[in-house]
Amino acid sequence: MKVHVFDTKEKLYDEVSNYYIERLNKNPNLNLGLATGTTPIPLYDRLIEAYKKGLVSFKGVKAFNLDEYLGLEKNHHQSYYYFMRNQLFNHIDINQNNCFIPSGDNPDHETAKKEYQELLKQNQVDIQLLGIGSNGHIGFNEPNTPFDTKTHVVKLDEKTRIDNSRLFNSLDEVPTHAITMGISEIMNAKEIIVIATGSNKKDAVYEMIKGNISENVPASVLQRHPNVTVYIDKDAASRL
Ligand code: GLP
Repeated sequence: MKVHVFDTKEKLYDEVSNYYIERLNKNPNLNLGLATGTTPIPLYDRLIEAYKKGLVSFKGVKAFNLDEYLGLEKNHHQSYYYFMRNQLFNHIDINQNNCFIPSGDNPDHETAKKEYQELLKQNQVDIQLLGIGSNGHIGFNEPNTPFDTKTHVVKLDEKTRIDNSRLFNSLDEVPTHAITMGISEIMNAKEIIVIATGSNKKDAVYEMIKGNISENVPASVLQRHPNVTVYIDKDAASRL
């Protein structure tokens, strides 16, 4: 695991976005594993800006998102389908038919799971972007998810629902379940980039990097991956 600590978020996001631009210019046909949450937004903003300046193109990119809430309509303001279009896809030249997100509005969860598993079997992700939950979750793989899981349906931790309730009108509105890429599928990416900022992530960051590898802390599995780079600000790094 390579760990880069930054004084400011600006420097952190400049570095990550420059890395993506460089990689995309070398290989315009990358399969990008993308994430939601507040953490990736400044990266997406920089990528949009670079696209508008003609510094990068996403025409050949396929995008595979980590997860989606169950039971929200696609156009719900907190669905990850809506988030990705709003924060990135609608502002760049990516082919929207090549943007994949697990289906959270298909009442047939079994089919939704199988479809996404099959898609990931056919398409290895080149660079998987990850945020981290304050309880150490990756995607929506909550603590005690077995490391060998593929795309599956999860009951969200109360901590995750409370963390994410800031984006909804009330805690009651936060879905109780989600569909997420499994840990084994995340680990199948050729390369993984983790971003974490803020002191509420310091314990999860510490456990991910220095803790025992344990299903109690899903992100700790990343210690076993041969190509992980962690980008953190000094608040998220404060326990290291
Ligand atoms: C969310 C997402 C994760 C994300 C994490 C952190 O619930 N499912 O993919 O990494 O929680 O979110 P944030 O970046 O808003 O702190």
